[in-house]
Amino acid sequence: MSQIVCENLKYLYSVGTPFESVAIDDVNISIEKGEIVGVIGHTGSGKSTLIQHLNALLEPYSGKVFLNGKDVWENKSEIRSVRFAVGLCFQYPEYQIFEETVFKEISFGPKQMGLDEKEIEERVYESADFVGINKELMNKSPFDLSGGQKRRVAIASVIAMRPEVLVLDEPCAGLDPAGRERILSLIKSYQQKMGNTVILVSHSMEDVAKLAQKVIVMNKGRVAFQSSVSEVFSHARELKEMGLNVPQITEVFLKLKKRGIDCRTDIYTVEDAYNEIKRLKSLS
Ligand SMILES: Nc1ncnc2c1ncn2[C@@H]1O[C@H](COP(=O)(O)OP(=O)(O)OP(=O)(O)O)[C@@H](O)[C@H]1O
Ligand SMILES: [Mg+2]
Repeated sequence: MSQIVCENLKYLYSVGTPFESVAIDDVNISIEKGEIVGVIGHTGSGKSTLIQHLNALLEPYSGKVFLNGKDVWENKSEIRSVRFAVGLCFQYPEYQIFEETVFKEISFGPKQMGLDEKEIEERVYESADFVGINKELMNKSPFDLSGGQKRRVAIASVIAMRPEVLVLDEPCAGLDPAGRERILSLIKSYQQKMGNTVILVSHSMEDVAKLAQKVIVMNKGRVAFQSSVSEVFSHARELKEMGLNVPQITEVFLKLKKRGIDCRTDIYTVEDAYNEIKRLKSLS
């Protein structure tokens, strides 16, 4: 059984007003436990709208969302447990930081879960340590932190709830390359350590290629592709038409293949490229 399933999901903003608009339509996806799934798509393609359905923050206009086989809207009194099971870190989470101290900020979720003080403290320090936020920062105002630190505090506050699915909406947006790398390696080690599912929304094909096993491509509110990274990237032309680009290094190998060179096309990093070129040279 898939951990998350969306069936014929449709969502409209501003229903019944002159501004009514369809944000996602006929979305069918399934996500397996323990996967890292990338969600990519042009701006406005419906990524954020889609993922806000996964933790029942948005209620479908029509269609269904299942978590571990259960329709999340079947019993409205259980919605809170869905929100704890699927932790969502918003796009630009720094705008939703509101507590006076970093400690309070990270403990907000576990408190909502009704955990006792000792467990809350344990979880706060564990998740802060995991994202690389020092103990000395715990009593500081989160507003005094750098952009990268704020982002990591926001992630810690979701991880502290120990969700079985972690959803991150553009976690690297606006960060410098070092900040991006730090967040990406954090996500990878989180998934490796906990074996939990991670859903990563990103504009960056490079980031998705580095981390995800599976990719969901959104285009104008619909799912355009839903497959392995290499399968999706083999549709370079269609992706371009949707305003997306495959990683440049992948494109080089796709072009070589087109020219008749029998090379691999699932190449996403310089290291992979180096090894593949070495292999090709050894054959010639
Ligand atoms: N609160 C809202 N009210 C009205 N329309 C909205 C709202 N939020 C999003 N939309 C519209 O819904 C569609 C999907 O938006 P969504 O934010 O889900 O896309 P996205 O893929 O996350 O975009 P981005 O890459 O810019 O974050 C867009 O047409 C957008 O303008
Ligand atoms: Mg978005």
